Amino acid sequence: MELLDHGNKSDLRNPDTAILIQFVKTVTSITEMGEISRAGKAEGKRIALVPTMGFLHEGHLSLIRAARKAGDVLVVSIFVNPAQFGPAEDLDSYPRNLDRDLKLCAGEGTDIVFNPAGGDIYPEGYSTWVEETDLSRGLCGAARPGHFRGVTTVVLKLFNIVGPNIAFFGRKDYQQFKVIEKMVRDLDLPVEIVGLPTVREPDGLAMSSRNSYLSNRERKEALCLRRALLQAREMLAAGETSAAAVRREMEKLIGREPDARIDYLEFRDPETLKPRETLRPGDLAAGAVFINRIRLIDNLLL
Ligand code: PAF
Repeated sequence: MELLDHGNKSDLRNPDTAILIQFVKTVTSITEMGEISRAGKAEGKRIALVPTMGFLHEGHLSLIRAARKAGDVLVVSIFVNPAQFGPAEDLDSYPRNLDRDLKLCAGEGTDIVFNPAGGDIYPEGYSTWVEETDLSRGLCGAARPGHFRGVTTVVLKLFNIVGPNIAFFGRKDYQQFKVIEKMVRDLDLPVEIVGLPTVREPDGLAMSSRNSYLSNRERKEALCLRRALLQAREMLAAGETSAAAVRREMEKLIGREPDARIDYLEFRDPETLKPRETLRPGDLAAGAVFINRIRLIDNLLL
C-alpha cells in the first residue's frame, strides 16, 4: 500500500494562503504539534480536536463550531489517510483544497490546523495497526475491507500526537463513530468522544466531500438513499416490523434510479450494531449506494 504523500500540502507560494496562515497556525511537524499540545495542557488548557480529511463542508464546520465552544485550544487535523482507502478506491482523486480549508478553519476561530505529511504518519517500514474487531465488521467494514483498521490506526495516532481532551465526529459515518467510541473505551484513552448529527443539504442529501463528484443528474439520483431511509421509518411507524419487507420496498425505490446500485441496506441495533430482523423504534437503518462509481452512505435512527 502506498502510504506516502497524496497531495496533503498547501501551496505556500500562493499569497492568499500565506496571509491566511497568519490567522490560523498550520503545523506539519508531529514533534511541534506534540510540543504545542503539552505546553497548552501544562497551562491547564483543554484541547479539542476535529479530525478531518479536508475538503471541508458544513458538516465539518458544525463539528468545528462545537469544538470551538468545548476547548481552549481548537485543533483541526487535515490528513487524507491512505490507510483507510482500498486499492481500487478513490485515494488519488479524493477532493482536496487545502487553501480553502485553511480559510474556512480561520473563519471558525481554529487555533491550529495540523496537516502532517503521509511519510511522517506512515514512515518507511511502518507496521503497527489498531483494529477493532466487533463493531467494524459488516456494513462499511464488509464493503471496504481494512477501512476501519486504517481509521482506528490514524485516529489513535492523531490522539497520541495532539493529546485532545475531547474529539468530534459526524454521525453520518455512524459506524465509524461507534468504532472510535469502542476503541477509546477498550484502550482506556483519556478522550471524550462526541458524535454530532448529520448536516444535510436543503433537499436532505447528507453532506459529504464525495458529493462534489456528482453530476447534476447524479446529484438528483443520489437522494434515493435518503428517501429510502425515510420510507423505512414511515413503514415502521405504520406498523411494519419485518426488516425484509421494509428492505424490499427500499430496494424498489432505489431501483427506480438508472444509475443507482445498492451496496448495502441494513437494520442494526444502534449500540451493538447487531443485525435486526424484527425492527424496533430507535434501530439504525444504514445504507450505502453507488451512483455510477460514486459511493454514498447515509443512515437514520428509525
Ligand atoms: O471521517 C473522516 O473524515 C476520517 O475517517 C477520519 C476520522 C478523519 C480519519 O481519517
